Amino acid sequence: MDLFEIDSLKNNSKNEVEKENILQSNLMTFEECVKADENDELKNFCSKFQIPPNTIYFCGNSLGLCPIESEKVVNQIIQEWEQNHIHSWNLAIQLPLKVGNKIGKLIGAEENETIIADSTSINLFKCLGTSIAIQKIKNPNRRSILLDRENFSNDLGLLKLLSTDEYKIRYFDDENQLEDFLNDDVVCILLSHVNYHHVGSVPINLTEVNADFAVGCTDKYLNSSPGAPAFIYVNKKHQNVTWQPLTGWLGHQSPFKMSKDYEPTVGIKNFLVGTPEVLPISIIDCSVEITLDAGMQLIRKNH
Ligand SMILES: Cc1ncc(COP(=O)(O)O)c(C=O)c1O
Repeated sequence: MDLFEIDSLKNNSKNEVEKENILQSNLMTFEECVKADENDELKNFCSKFQIPPNTIYFCGNSLGLCPIESEKVVNQIIQEWEQNHIHSWNLAIQLPLKVGNKIGKLIGAEENETIIADSTSINLFKCLGTSIAIQKIKNPNRRSILLDRENFSNDLGLLKLLSTDEYKIRYFDDENQLEDFLNDDVVCILLSHVNYHHVGSVPINLTEVNADFAVGCTDKYLNSSPGAPAFIYVNKKHQNVTWQPLTGWLGHQSPFKMSKDYEPTVGIKNFLVGTPEVLPISIIDCSVEITLDAGMQLIRKNH
């Protein structure tokens, strides 16, 4: 019986004694825990992380553990910089897309729909700004933006900045209500898959669910170091309709022209703004490899 079933049984039970009995009868004994560890198909993955001694780490929702390989990959970047100075940019500049595509495999994206850049909030700003701009072209009469009331506190601030007086923000309290809010007035909907982080913990397939845009952080279940940059996913069908609102030099068609007139580059690279955070992205690279190797289905089964 999994945790959801236990929860629903408990919630539906009539009295406290019955609830306690259900809980007790489903608790594992110490011996059962040891046996489950022995049979764990992912047990060899423990050796890939710095796990504090005598600890079962349940704080991946706040900060993932450090992959042992991370020191090596960071040192490689430093050596490359030492030896090749300005030429080390050649490798570094490719990292956001190279590693973005690896995250893309975890979230069911197609090639060149995911890139690493900036923070979650900044990426959300780009997604919302782009979707509002696309709707201005395709459905200019729409006026309402739907927001889950439980969304992260930053999100409302971003929306207010983008929506001005033209749009009305409408809240829903849970996704079961969502259908009642859907009509021809809706510009875009901002939803959390899990409050707030899930990539690396809960499987999702963005192509299957026909997602338009998505953002996520990497420092939680993707174990990529405190404050490492986030990722942004943009469905190919939205990539070249218009450009994202933060028109930076790396999203420009010819970055080194330093042109005052913005000409967006094609594809997901338009969602870059400025210089990539090379050292943490190299850690994302090695940690995502570990997650891909383990496989999302097995990670989920282990919960
Ligand atoms: C939906 C959402 N928005 C914004 C944030 C803030 O992220 P950041 O600090 O990377 O900007 C988070 C972080 O968890 C989030 O889940």
